[in-house]
Amino acid sequence: AVVHLKTIKQNHAINEIEAYIEEKRAEINPRYRLHYHVAPPVGWMNDPNGFSFYKGEFHLFYQFYPYDSQWGPMHWGHAVSPNLVDWKTLPTALVPEEEMCFSGSAVVKDDEMVLMYTGRRTTEEEPFYNETQYLAFSNDGVEFHKYEGNPVLPYTPNGSPDFRDPKVWQHGDHWYVVIGSKTDDERGRVLLYRSADLINWEFLSVIGESSGDMGYMWECPDFFQLKGKHILLMSPQGLVPQGDRYMNVHQTGYIIGKFSYETFEFVPEVSFQEIDFGHDFYAATTTEKDGKRYIVAWFNMWDVPHPEDVDGWAGAMTIVRELELVGNRIVMKPVETITSLRERQCGMTGELIITGDLSQNIELLIKGSNGGGQVVLRWDPQVRKVVVDREGDIRQVEWLPLGSEQWRIFLDASSLELFCGEGEVVFSTRVYPDGGWQVTNLSPQPLDVIAYALRRSVP
Ligand code: FRU
Repeated sequence: AVVHLKTIKQNHAINEIEAYIEEKRAEINPRYRLHYHVAPPVGWMNDPNGFSFYKGEFHLFYQFYPYDSQWGPMHWGHAVSPNLVDWKTLPTALVPEEEMCFSGSAVVKDDEMVLMYTGRRTTEEEPFYNETQYLAFSNDGVEFHKYEGNPVLPYTPNGSPDFRDPKVWQHGDHWYVVIGSKTDDERGRVLLYRSADLINWEFLSVIGESSGDMGYMWECPDFFQLKGKHILLMSPQGLVPQGDRYMNVHQTGYIIGKFSYETFEFVPEVSFQEIDFGHDFYAATTTEKDGKRYIVAWFNMWDVPHPEDVDGWAGAMTIVRELELVGNRIVMKPVETITSLRERQCGMTGELIITGDLSQNIELLIKGSNGGGQVVLRWDPQVRKVVVDREGDIRQVEWLPLGSEQWRIFLDASSLELFCGEGEVVFSTRVYPDGGWQVTNLSPQPLDVIAYALRRSVP
């Protein structure tokens, strides 16, 4: 039966926000604007939210602050796509009121789209904030009404004020949600709850917890199956660099294991691995459609410069990728439909497919034709590592090709994504050239290069 819930109209007139966005859009400096990556129309973007499929379209929401290209009271921006590559901006979906609208997810229930997000409120007492879970509903996928009974999930087992980024899914007769939190002694963990109606929630278990060396907070958890295994994807804060690993301010990665819907226990089988090795990849989230699992992430990092912010905007999404479990690891391939962006004529943005002899060194210099940012990509057969050297700031990882020995490189106006082989090693890195891209082979060997221009597919 369809239960009718009381919802309230959001106070802020969305129209006014949209009028403001329209006006500011004209002032944006286009030099670093991305051609085929979702970015905010103006202002600031961080995490992807509510990645889902509803009424024939993919929906991708995001943490959004329209009034500055710095983080501010969080709204939810909104984009939709028929195919995961052509995107259109919709009106702002959620506006902060008593609560900032932090990250969350979307499900479809009784033909309605339901958003579950973290309401972050400031409080009088230490620690001066608290986080609880809110709902919002839509029956057209455009206009959202917040639930009158918010918050629906106000408690953690230990009373931690850090309680955010709900990812909801349906299994059998129940809705389940994983939410990021921490222990009293500041170890990151993920909590699991269950509900029959999305309103009343029951705590089930801690499905993952840092034993001490896995950070102080686990943000943006996601929990799903690949080939019969359960995957706990999350973004831990506070990992200490170890050799080539954990080089970013915060990381995103996954634990493979077994989960039981009877005991609600998640037993890890393969410990935490990063899912992307580039400089700018965080707060990833997934959705499933027709048996395929898609992932998208914030194509930036906290607490580092975002050079586009002086241009009136900041932040982007990675291209969508498809996940597959191969042995003890996840491989990540560009979404298949991205090939529909290929065009004949040369452009400023594009895709390169590079084949070299992996028994010899490879070195590719990718730089702005008038200077500015640059990246050097290297393959060192001695140590079997792929290196992404962004102006001396190095990310590197061992690569054992599963099959294909090609590199697929996606260049946009201020970004590079490198997919090695079948997607067993991926680097996502923002880089800011002056002028168009210039690619030079500095290897001791000739390389086989196929190049495509990619057409614009975002506003
Ligand atoms: C992750 C995060 C989330 C939070 C959101 C706030 O990048 O810190 O935990 O919900 O950003 O914008």
